[in-house]
Formats: sequence, C-alpha cells, structure tokens
Amino acid sequence: MELALYDVPHGYYMTKKVEPDDCSSDRIGWGGDYVTAPELSPILAKTLVRQILTIDEQLGRPAQFTFMEIGAGNGTFAFDFIHECRTISSDFFHRLSYQIVERSSHLQSRQAARLREVGGDWGESHLSWKSSIEEVDSDSVIGVVFSNELVDALPVHRVRMAGQCLHEICVAYKDGRFVECLDHRLSPELMEYIETHKVALSEGQTSELHLAAERWMKHVARLLQRGIVVTVDYGHTRGDYYRSDRKDGTFLCYYRHAISTDPYVRVGEQDMTAHVNFSALASVGTTNGLDFIGLTTMANWLIGLGVEDLVRDQDQESEDVKALAHLLRPHGMGTTFKVLAQRKGMKPFALQGLRYRAFFDDVVSSH
Ligand SMILES: C[S@@+](CC[C@H](N)C(=O)[O-])C[C@H]1O[C@@H](n2cnc3c(N)ncnc32)[C@H](O)[C@@H]1O
Repeated sequence: MELALYDVPHGYYMTKKVEPDDCSSDRIGWGGDYVTAPELSPILAKTLVRQILTIDEQLGRPAQFTFMEIGAGNGTFAFDFIHECRTISSDFFHRLSYQIVERSSHLQSRQAARLREVGGDWGESHLSWKSSIEEVDSDSVIGVVFSNELVDALPVHRVRMAGQCLHEICVAYKDGRFVECLDHRLSPELMEYIETHKVALSEGQTSELHLAAERWMKHVARLLQRGIVVTVDYGHTRGDYYRSDRKDGTFLCYYRHAISTDPYVRVGEQDMTAHVNFSALASVGTTNGLDFIGLTTMANWLIGLGVEDLVRDQDQESEDVKALAHLLRPHGMGTTFKVLAQRKGMKPFALQGLRYRAFFDDVVSSH
C-alpha cells in the first residue's frame, strides 16, 4: 500500500493519470476514481468556518491563527475555506495562516495553482506548504489541525485469524505476479497495537491494523500548542471495526468510481483505502496530550453547524442542495463519515458541530 500509493514516481498519489484515453488527469473528483466531500460541495468548508470562528474566540483571537490542512488533494477544500473566511470575517482572514502538509509534490503544485485564484497578495504571506508532518516544529500551531479523507489513505497492515493464530498478510512476487502469504511472526509494533487497542478477531476474519495512523496522531499531538484537531473520514469505533460479522475487513480499492477488493491489479493506477479506527486515534491522542472532545457522524456535525441555513433560500433542485443531500444521506456519507474532535491547551467549551450526539459509547470507554 505504501509503495502503490506513495512510491516516487510510480505511486498513485505521486503522478497524474497516464492512460491515453483519459479526458481528465485528476485522481480525485468526478473525472477521477472517487469523489470526496469537498469535491462534492463547499458546504463542509463553509460550515467549518463557522466552527473555527468560535474556536478563534476561545483561543483569545491570536495574532496568527494557524489552520493546518493535512492531505489537501486538489486544494478544493482550501480554496472554499479561504474564500469563505475572506467573505465573512476580514479580521480573521488577516490573522489566518493556512498551512498545508501534502506528501505529493505533484498535488502540491496543483494546490498552489488552485489557490493562486483566491490567494493573490494575501497568499504570499499567508499560505505555506510542507511535505511531511515530521517537518513541522513541535508546539508550533495555535489554531486547528484539519484533515478530510487523509487517515484512510495511510498504509495499513492486514491480518487474518487462521488456525486460532493471528497472521500478517504479506505480499510476495512469484511467476510474474503478486501473491499473498501469511506470516505468523508479527512485529513487536503490531503486537503492541493489538494489545493496546484490544483487537480480537474471529476464526477466518481479516482486518487491518493502523500503525501509520497511530504515528500520524502522535505527530499531530506534538505539533499542536493550543487548539483543536478535527479529523473527518469514514470509519468506526473499535467495537464496530473488529466485530465478527465484518469478515473481510474494510480494505478497498477505487478505480473510476468502481470498488474492488483486489490490490494486485492496476497497481499505482487505483486508490487503496481502509476505514479508520476512531477509537484508536482518540486513544493515541489522549495518551499524547490531546483531550477527546467527541465523535459524531458527518450528518450530525453539519446539522449542528446549521447547514440548513446555507441552503434554505436555494432552489431545492439546485446542485448545491443535491450535494448536501449526498453528504447527509443516512445510509451513505452522512453516517459512514465521522468527525473526531480533540483539544489541547484549552479549557472545555461547546463545539456547535458536536451539538447532536451520535451515541458512540465505546469510543473512549475502555481507556
Ligand atoms: C484521499 S486524498 C483526500 C484529499 C482531500 N483531503 C479531499 O478530501 O479531497 C488523500 C490526500 O492525502 C495526501 N497524503 C497522503 N498521505 C499523506 C501524508 N502522510 N502526509 C500528508 N499528505 C498525505 C495525498 O497525497 C492526498 O492529497
């Protein structure tokens, strides 16, 4: 997964699409392989700005408010967020430093081109990029660390329970093709993950372990001095993630909006993802100095932030309203997508986005 997505220059995120019949070189969006919430609609960005203004108040309106976006894709969320800030609060807009952490240099260029449209002179001093979270100084952020569909794109380890013993699913290359082989000698890091996050699989069950997501969360906790972490992605709480009827885990590949479970075809030309274990993220955050505030569904988050006001006066058949319906869909993005909020160096206060609880009682209950 690491190589298929991030090898330079062959990894999925590190290049443009190469097939000659493609009318679009995008990976993300309707012309690509999958659509994310920001590509569907500016609503996630617009509602988040409302939440950010409350956080800014609580932080005492710092001279520089950093909004760090990790994994910014085509730069669409950043474009909409900055545009909205400029529209609704000139004071905040002038104190905003928008920092992007983006692993792909190809996508960095794309983001810069997109943001040139909104940034102008402001962009020269208020926009910046880093290639990895490791490059960000400790305690350097006062503000918000945000990601949408980043954590599901971090490489996972796949494991299977066979003969009452947990095995890692490893990949070998034999007779011109990739083949899977099971290895019962799990690394100490995997053993620790299993113990810490109480992973228990039933016989024959396959699932994923998220070491890269754990490392990522530790870095986020390290770089934040004061503020809030907002992580949006599809995923589950621990009990739901490893429940025994989820036999094949959550690992999937996306190519031209079709889903497959075979990672050994179109290697470097299809996306690979695994759902997020939000309990593990919350728990690693807590161990590393982030207070868990809450986890809710995307639908509850958007409704809590008053999303209906944004479309009240619009034609109910308009594209914006249709996109909103997609984001709120009860058996789709509205519930599969979750929003995790964590806090550091701030007194507790109410986040409007968490106004409606989602009753995930097991998120942090066994810490
Ligand atoms: C699934 S895309 C989501 C893009 C965007 N957030 C959206 O919602 O449209 C994942 C993004 O994360 C970036 N990425 C993956 N791993 C990363 C890492 N370790 N650090 C920073 N960016 C990363 C990818 O290059 C890509 O831009």
